[in-house]
Amino acid sequence: MTTPELDHVLTYHEVTKHHLNRYARGPGGLDWANQPDPFRRYGGAPLIKLDHLPPGERPLFEEVFVEGRLPASPSDRASVSQLFYDSLALSAWKQAGGVRWSLRVNPSSGNLHPTEGYLICGPIEGLSDQPMVCHYAPKAHALERRAEFPLEVWRALTDHLPDGTILIGLTSIHWREAWKYGERAFRYCQHDAGHAIAAVTLAAAALGRRTTLLDDLSTDAIGILLGLAGWQEAEPEEPECLLAVYPQHDSCTVLSLPEAAIEPFRSLAWQGRPNALSREHVDWPIIDQAAVATRKPATEAYGDTPTPTGPPLPVGSAPISFRMIVHQRRSCLALDGKTGITRAAFYQILRKTVPGSGRFPFTALPWSPKIHFGLFVHRVDGIDPGLYCLIRDRAQLDPLKSAMKQEFAWEIPADCPNDVMLYRLLTGDAQELSQQISCHQEIASDGCFSLGMIGEYEAPLSRYGAWFYRRLFWEAGVLGQVLYLEAEASGIRGTGIGCYFDDPMHGVLGLSDRRYQDLYHFTMGGPIEDARLTTLPAYGDMQGRV
Ligand SMILES: Cc1cc2nc3c(=O)[nH]c(=O)nc-3n(C[C@H](O)[C@H](O)[C@H](O)COP(=O)(O)O)c2cc1C
Repeated sequence: MTTPELDHVLTYHEVTKHHLNRYARGPGGLDWANQPDPFRRYGGAPLIKLDHLPPGERPLFEEVFVEGRLPASPSDRASVSQLFYDSLALSAWKQAGGVRWSLRVNPSSGNLHPTEGYLICGPIEGLSDQPMVCHYAPKAHALERRAEFPLEVWRALTDHLPDGTILIGLTSIHWREAWKYGERAFRYCQHDAGHAIAAVTLAAAALGRRTTLLDDLSTDAIGILLGLAGWQEAEPEEPECLLAVYPQHDSCTVLSLPEAAIEPFRSLAWQGRPNALSREHVDWPIIDQAAVATRKPATEAYGDTPTPTGPPLPVGSAPISFRMIVHQRRSCLALDGKTGITRAAFYQILRKTVPGSGRFPFTALPWSPKIHFGLFVHRVDGIDPGLYCLIRDRAQLDPLKSAMKQEFAWEIPADCPNDVMLYRLLTGDAQELSQQISCHQEIASDGCFSLGMIGEYEAPLSRYGAWFYRRLFWEAGVLGQVLYLEAEASGIRGTGIGCYFDDPMHGVLGLSDRRYQDLYHFTMGGPIEDARLTTLPAYGDMQGRV
């Protein structure tokens, strides 16, 4: 079924492909004088400082990914502080010469951080006696209280949600990414929303809490709940999603938030005015059109319930602290072209990307997996170098086989665990090819492996509507964050790759129509550190000075 919105989004996707002889339209250079401020602030809104909680040794990295392993922490100031600290806070400052910039726990394309986070909560001990809506300010690690509202309104809002629920809202400021990347930026904003969904889900899991995307809501309803209004002077924030975070033992399957309960938020006394991030802006109308076309109407719950592929994850006892990994996560800037990993480590990394019973963070997404991997394996001990495919939803094996080149081998590599549906397609050295496909970037060929995330495309867009376009990228971003953390925990380093040649990658796999599209790339290997950069702590005497 085609609609004007679907036409818009299909056109957006085609127009923003990079081709071997032509990149998608961008600004053609960086206007440093107008570089967007990475920190949105709501001036005039009361500030509630959150606690700084240094990463300890517990919980262990592996146990966080498995539902039911950790006791639910109480809903109090400490757990809200920890939730934001481990998901959307700063992780370090970097300095080169006289220039300093901050890094964050959640990754972002170009370190531009289009994603803003919000908290909607009832009364929370040590934080507020009143229900409230707050914007999270990462540089201050504080909440800006945008509005308070009556307890009856909170009760009506959370009537169908477990006791102890808090709500986390995410928005995107497209201009932050468009400043550097032009028309392709809308895709990157969606990747980053996905990274943030995974970051919040895993930080919550470390607190014994489960996270669910409340996806019956309309995009407009989320905007009303978060108090987003059209300010003349400040860059708009596009509502993305609302996440319910609640104790793990209350894992209801269907959670909902009635649209009628949102009405009182239209007339709350909103406090604070957003800052302007740049003095001047370049308009990218195709991004505005893509945003409008992919706004979601209110819908019933998905008929497409996730079908777990794997059994519950086995939990190893590796003494790796979850929070240490989360705070040390970085993108590699260059890879050494030498470091390899073992077959067992490779399977362990892939296993963490496969959804299954109680496997975080995929439990947050209320649809069946849509993303599969096309992998270029370079340096995995015991695995032939070559082209591989990881299927993340068993039901897609035959459709993918028939959509890809018929000469592919589809052979299961030795010792591959049953719940990892990995297939060897071709054997051979894929280093040059992978580098060429990822915009000639050496990081794609100098690692242990790199991959393209192949999303089911036409069928889910036709089934649900143009709004599902954003969700395909969210799923890719969720996977990106898992891969980032797995790389760190395996003693190597990864990075998301947004710059790749779309159709040449489709050509490698033999994908010739719109059934599947390549939505994100990733690589990991032995990092080469840049010795010119100094690392400084995220918080300390840096606050307020930079
Ligand atoms: C969606 C996405 C796309 C990215 N694309 C590229 C890329 O094409 N090439 C590259 O070298 N780095 C790429 N990066 C790495 C970012 O530039 C890096 O994440 C950013 O500078 C933030 O640093 P951090 O991840 O260490 O916090 C990408 C990251 C993300 C999240």
